[in-house]
Amino acid sequence: MIELIGRTKRAAAQAETGWTILELALKADVDWGFSCTRGTCSRCRCLVSEGMELLNEPTDAELDGLDDEELAQGYRLGCQAKVIADGTIAVRNKPYF
Ligand code: FES
Repeated sequence: MIELIGRTKRAAAQAETGWTILELALKADVDWGFSCTRGTCSRCRCLVSEGMELLNEPTDAELDGLDDEELAQGYRLGCQAKVIADGTIAVRNKPYF
């Protein structure tokens, strides 16, 4: 299960493996910021409060786009963070603006 908290909407959805957080949010009709879908615009930036171990390791785009402190706090890019295992994930969209 994944709890997705967008800018004004939230939803609980099935955390399907192989899907990114952004893909799951859009499928669940949550208003999640995004533009490039390639890890460069950071509009899909989000804070993972539960289930980080169920996601892939940060991609090169995330290592470039997020600073060490953000990564340590649990920030990811929704278009890059992909579900790799079953479990409970909670994530909130937190763009810079
Ligand atoms: S949509 Fe641009 S970084 Fe994710």
